[in-house]
Amino acid sequence: MAVETASLAERCRHRFPIFKDRVYINSCSQGALSDAVRTAYEQYLRDWDEHGAPWEYWLERQEAARNSFADLINAAPDEIAVTASLSAGVASLASGLRFARRSKVVLTDWEFPTIGQIWHAQEARGARVVHVHETQDGSIPIEHFDAAIDDDTLLVSITHVCYRHGAMTDVRDVVELAHERGAYVLLDAFQSVGSLPVDVRELDVDFLGAGVLKYLLGSAGLGFFYCRRELVDKIRPTATGWFADEDIFAMDHTDYSPAPTAARFQSGTPPVPAIYAGIAGMELMKELGIAETRAHVNELNAHLLEGVDELKAEVVTPRAPEQRGALVCVKATDAPALVAALDREGIVTSERDSNLRISAHAYNTVEDVDAVLDALRRNRKLLA
Ligand SMILES: Cc1ncc(COP(=O)(O)O)c(C=O)c1O
Repeated sequence: MAVETASLAERCRHRFPIFKDRVYINSCSQGALSDAVRTAYEQYLRDWDEHGAPWEYWLERQEAARNSFADLINAAPDEIAVTASLSAGVASLASGLRFARRSKVVLTDWEFPTIGQIWHAQEARGARVVHVHETQDGSIPIEHFDAAIDDDTLLVSITHVCYRHGAMTDVRDVVELAHERGAYVLLDAFQSVGSLPVDVRELDVDFLGAGVLKYLLGSAGLGFFYCRRELVDKIRPTATGWFADEDIFAMDHTDYSPAPTAARFQSGTPPVPAIYAGIAGMELMKELGIAETRAHVNELNAHLLEGVDELKAEVVTPRAPEQRGALVCVKATDAPALVAALDREGIVTSERDSNLRISAHAYNTVEDVDAVLDALRRNRKLLA
């Protein structure tokens, strides 16, 4: 395994110029820029120069992005909306839900702010929002879901991997409970997709939102929304736009006829430049192998955890690899100061919630982790 994983980073590292100058270990915020994504952006500009307004090609690129993402999560292309952000897809879903027969939305303490904000915004439309809390050790026992999900629950909104501490939700357990009680499940997979295999059939979720900015190596401006096929025509989004129409070429401003596919969760003009980049990022990740990346990062993280233990610092991410994503978080006394100190040493990390976030990906090496550990040793006073 050590030989294989060493070759993964060796195989791709030269394609990410940032490593010439810095140790980049911050893919939970944004993936490193690859030569493929740079070329894709250049291609976008070249096409614009050469063809003026190549709309047909842009639409073909939108379909290529849809297909690529569908393939990644084991969905069908007609179950995928191409959006400008995760928020856009979730907000479109929210706009199409009526909170009449069932009114409750259950969400957790692990959600990214956008999720909480979108569901709380629905209170003005009759939704009742209930939070499932984490315990003192940071976990969310299934009993907490059990107590919150009832026969008034319309939707359970969960995150796959928490952006604040890297813990992973046992999605299958929550889905089983929710479905048993007639509730839908939305999964925010932004912090997992690209870093580990995500399969909507296996997870059995009803809706999923994600973006390409992080472990899918794309850029800002492109998201995706999955809706299980059987549910598509049950939901009529009221936040909409012409790219959600059943026929965008009809140019009909006199009626609303949403697409019979998950494209009904789209909005206006697609994020064309980000689509070029996103396809390049997703294809690169597929070439490198997402399962291989997961194994590689788990090895790096085992090494990282050992080193942090030697420093007698506090890891807030669960120890068991199956209970965490790619992200490892270490408690800091002053997290912004620690991120700045590491940055001065040429190491790019990030922070949230008093934690230092270290997130390795396919391109990271044991030497990167050692560089982080050496820097943490020198800045030990900033760790709790
Ligand atoms: C878990 C999670 N959800 C959602 C988002 C944001 O999604 P978007 O800005 O595409 O709506 C992020 C990213 O920063 C995230 O980490």
